Amino acid sequence: MENNVRPESLQRIETPELAKAFIEEQVALLREQIGEKKVLLALSGGVDSSVVAALLIKAIGKNLVCVHVNHGLLRKGEPEQVIEVFRGQMDANLIYVDAVDRFLDKLAGVSDPEKKRKIIGEEFIRVFEEEAEKLDGIHFLAQGTIYPDILESVGVKAHHNVGGLPEKFGFELVEPVKFLYKDEVRVVGKELGLPDNMVYRQPFPGPGLGVRCVGAITRDRLEALREADAIVREEIGKLPETPWQYFCAIPDFVSTGIKYVDGQGQRYMGWAVVIRAVNTVDAVTATVPEIPFSVLCKMRDEIVKIPGVNRVLWDLSEKPLATIEWE
Ligand code: XMP
Repeated sequence: MENNVRPESLQRIETPELAKAFIEEQVALLREQIGEKKVLLALSGGVDSSVVAALLIKAIGKNLVCVHVNHGLLRKGEPEQVIEVFRGQMDANLIYVDAVDRFLDKLAGVSDPEKKRKIIGEEFIRVFEEEAEKLDGIHFLAQGTIYPDILESVGVKAHHNVGGLPEKFGFELVEPVKFLYKDEVRVVGKELGLPDNMVYRQPFPGPGLGVRCVGAITRDRLEALREADAIVREEIGKLPETPWQYFCAIPDFVSTGIKYVDGQGQRYMGWAVVIRAVNTVDAVTATVPEIPFSVLCKMRDEIVKIPGVNRVLWDLSEKPLATIEWE
């Protein structure tokens, strides 16, 4: 039976020195556990899988095979950053899978949020399995499980959905940060040299922009959402205190807009972008922080430049009654 209780000897990792000691210890343990064998990792680019990747690269170099699946629902610049950091800077053995069409084709016309989540989760497993099947000599599967995942009795990250893989392939698990809390993972990530926007990234749902492009996802509305999200992350990210989560949603309705061409008003239908920012401790309840009106207006002015968008709304709803995500 695997030990899933945090050792009492493990000090809380709050300083770079403690992170350094943790990294040294883990690298030695990983080398001992893995030897010359190969390890596979689904690298989403989120904090946990990125820290696990960086630790394993330090320990076993190219014997770690990272698979980054781009399902088309990532935020602007994310797949590029994963490639740049892990292939470019860390010289990792990284397989980049462009599965955008595959996911978006499967999702076409599906409006039920839970069905969308199921499709994204199942398709993720399928793509990952296909990549695993192409590889020879993999012995271990690494996962970014962290201590709250264990405490919540979710042995694997639900949103990564790689839970079925170890059984199918007979991989042994490698979970080097499984006794760490999120803040500790961040301190370790910083010490491993990961960029700040990866280490201090806000929580992002596994189904990604898929649950923020409300209703049946269309490619044009998804692109508008990705652009709007980048604007909101940029502008709210500049505040002295950033909220816990801040993002956009695009509902699946249109409303009337007007533009002037040669002095003539022309009415047209466009999408509304909803700006959402929340503070929470545990995501069970959430409040809405104050955002300076000038910042809201700046975001509005940028967002309305996005083709197809003619309205910007600010979501004031607290949880409960509203959930943090729109779906
Ligand atoms: P809600 O919308 O339920 O969200 O208030 C609470 C927190 O959970 C995140 N969330 C998800 N995370 N897969 C995930 O990995 C999901 O399907 C999912 N749905 C919501 C949400 O971003 C918030 O932090």
